[in-house]
Amino acid sequence: MPAWMPQFTRIALVPGDGIGPEVIRAAVQVLDAVQARFGGGFTTQWFDLGAERYLKTGETLPQAEFASLRDNFDAILLGAFGDPRVPSNVHAKDILLGLRQRLDLYVNLRPVRLVDARLCPLKGVQAGGVDMAIVRENTESVYVGIGGSFKPDTEDEVAQNTMLSTRKGCDRLLRYAFELARTRRHKLVLCDKANAIESAHGLWRKSLKAMAPQYPDVQATTLYADVAAMRMTTHPHEFDVVVGDNMIGDILSDLAAALVGGLGLAPSASTHPGRVALYEPVHGSAPDIVGTGKANPLAAILSLGMLLRDQGLTQAADAVEAACAQSVVERACTPDLDGSLTTEQVAAWVAARV
Ligand code: NAD
Ligand code: IPM
Ligand code: MN
Repeated sequence: MPAWMPQFTRIALVPGDGIGPEVIRAAVQVLDAVQARFGGGFTTQWFDLGAERYLKTGETLPQAEFASLRDNFDAILLGAFGDPRVPSNVHAKDILLGLRQRLDLYVNLRPVRLVDARLCPLKGVQAGGVDMAIVRENTESVYVGIGGSFKPDTEDEVAQNTMLSTRKGCDRLLRYAFELARTRRHKLVLCDKANAIESAHGLWRKSLKAMAPQYPDVQATTLYADVAAMRMTTHPHEFDVVVGDNMIGDILSDLAAALVGGLGLAPSASTHPGRVALYEPVHGSAPDIVGTGKANPLAAILSLGMLLRDQGLTQAADAVEAACAQSVVERACTPDLDGSLTTEQVAAWVAARV
């Protein structure tokens, strides 16, 4: 593109299933407000991927659409995948895990911060008293899809899934986490089950031990994940950067989210430097509340905030984050946060403050 052309941020919108479309519509409303207030150029394109299409056509993530997402966009803003009509979850595996794995988006960053003391289920924790960044490995562990069933649906059925760690996978994630710790409170804890999962989780400890001396300014420790879950509940302020493999990171991130208001407030970014990045709320498709207006759009809107920040649009990102925090503090929010607004009303409220 010629140098004089305005720089557009190209965003692919992949709403998905259940409440996914509801929260992505809300985020787009906030994006429109960002554009009106701060200018800057965005282009958006909707992608019709999900259970509905799979049930109609059998397609999950066709190659042409995958290639377009990979090659034509700076960022993907994604809702959620999962539909009770597809119990095998095959479309979610192809689309959601497919994007993470095929784009090799190895960092899944899930920031968790308490913005209002009333949202913490623990006693006596003030705003800011929980402030951690979960750095979840996003391409390996038991998510590699290696395994299967032998003699299915017989009394001799055998089921197997492989947990896989690679030295490269541990090293690159820990490198990211150490660098992140340097921009925060200089603390990093690796959470694993190396006591039971000697090889796959032992490798994480080996990688940490080798890298830690390069970061003498970062206090690097390890915790077994079961103890980490307890400690995170009783002493959440001790946690700064929390590293876990794909499965441990998944579980701890929902726990951490519960400490600050729940899944409706938890954003995430899946990244690999130089590649299209994927932004999505941590929550799923919430089939139990779809169509009721109860879906909290703040996790999706905060994921948009992460997108803006990564694009260098710091002022816009700050404005989005501040408006989201204000909506929580002023109870201009959905019932999960003790508010009485609908998804669309929260979107309009946040958009107006941006
Ligand atoms: P879920 O996150 O969809 O819902 C768990 C609980 O939290 C439900 O009670 C739901 O109503 C509530 N909740 C979730 N998001 C909310 C929001 N934004 N506002 C208010 N309440 C919210 O998890 P689940 O019920 O275990 O899974 C449902 C489906 O979603 C499954 O198919 C699962 O595989 C899928 N899933 C997808 C993703 C993803 O796409 N990233 C993540 C998690 C689960
Ligand atoms: C998440 C979800 C997914 C995961 C599921 C839907 C496969 O729980 O994004 O946290 O485990 O990664
Ligand atoms: Mn999860």
